[in-house]
Amino acid sequence: MFSSKIAGIGMYVPSNVVTNNDLTRYMDTNDAWIQERTGIKERRYAHRTKETTTTMGVEAAAIAIERAGITPQDIDFIVFATLSPDYYFPGCGVLLQRALKMREIGALDVRNQCSGFVYALSVADQFIKTGMYKNILVVGSEKHSFGLDFSTRGRNVSVIFGDGAGAVVLQPAANEAQGILSTHLHSDGESAEILAMYNPGTHANYWTANKVADFTEAEVGEMFMSKEMIDNAQNFPYMDGPAVFKKAVVKFPEVIMEALTANNLTPADIKILIPHQANLRIAQFVQQKLGLRDDQVHNNIQHYGNTTAASVPIALCEAWQDGKIKEGDLVCLAAFGSGFTWASALLRW
Ligand code: UT7
Repeated sequence: MFSSKIAGIGMYVPSNVVTNNDLTRYMDTNDAWIQERTGIKERRYAHRTKETTTTMGVEAAAIAIERAGITPQDIDFIVFATLSPDYYFPGCGVLLQRALKMREIGALDVRNQCSGFVYALSVADQFIKTGMYKNILVVGSEKHSFGLDFSTRGRNVSVIFGDGAGAVVLQPAANEAQGILSTHLHSDGESAEILAMYNPGTHANYWTANKVADFTEAEVGEMFMSKEMIDNAQNFPYMDGPAVFKKAVVKFPEVIMEALTANNLTPADIKILIPHQANLRIAQFVQQKLGLRDDQVHNNIQHYGNTTAASVPIALCEAWQDGKIKEGDLVCLAAFGSGFTWASALLRW
């Protein structure tokens, strides 16, 4: 069995910088509230018509492929993680396959929101380990700005999210001690409706009746998307922020310790922790709980906001570009979010 290593990494963020003050034009919010509660100063928004989740993924992927010293035609398999796909279906994987003029390879889309990239990485790792594929492209990309409620009603969610993409190329490692040491995936569907976008969907109020959505049978009707749903902001993400926060600060340290324990390592062995950039306060809490120094954690939510499936590869790429990761370093990736799902990966660079 080969373990898999990251042979190339890339990121892409749109050029349009949106500050906290910019958001005050649309909703009742302010820079102090956003920075105090989340650490975010600014985020990037994709061009409304000239950029999509896929095109941003393509930009990041092209860099990762080039840095791996291969071409798009060498890629054997695509795993694309996003919650903001270009189409309801088909997924972004096939659009990326087309855009990069790849061979007729398999393309898999992963729907695990904030932990999507770590899940995607884990899937790709298994295909490398079995020897089935040699070059796998793993992408996390989001165009949140197209689907947020920019009125005051949606401010607790909309100020947090930003757009961007990150990608890696996975290849077989030279030896067992290098590359991905282990991945750890979890879910708890009990809290599925706490952080979710309910519509459009096929549930017809099945899960949400008397819970969060308040539609009568007649209102829901047989429609995929009704005027009532739009009037009730059901086409925008819903989040019970405090409930997510409480769970995140428990599950992040738990899944990181699970990874370390499985490899007979301790927090002191971590060169750098790349936590999903959900909220700077969550990352700081996790850092404190694990007794990590500032130089052992990479945060960039201040500049990009929460980019969901893209946040881990963007932060990993940036940390690597900043020279914070060298060969032989122990890197820990961890994420928690909608589902709930949470996951970690431990890598020897
Ligand atoms: O990556 C996916 C996973 N997501 C997360 O991990 C998010 C976890 N949760 C959080 O990060 C935090 O809960 C938030 C940043 C979303 C919210 O912070 P909070 O400290 O939990 O605030 P809150 O939701 O309890 O709201 C406090 C107050 C409310 O006003 P009242 O009821 O006290 O008068 C909100 O209406 O802040 C108000 N508020 C805002 N004020 C200004 C909510 N959003 C805003 C806003 N600007 N954008």
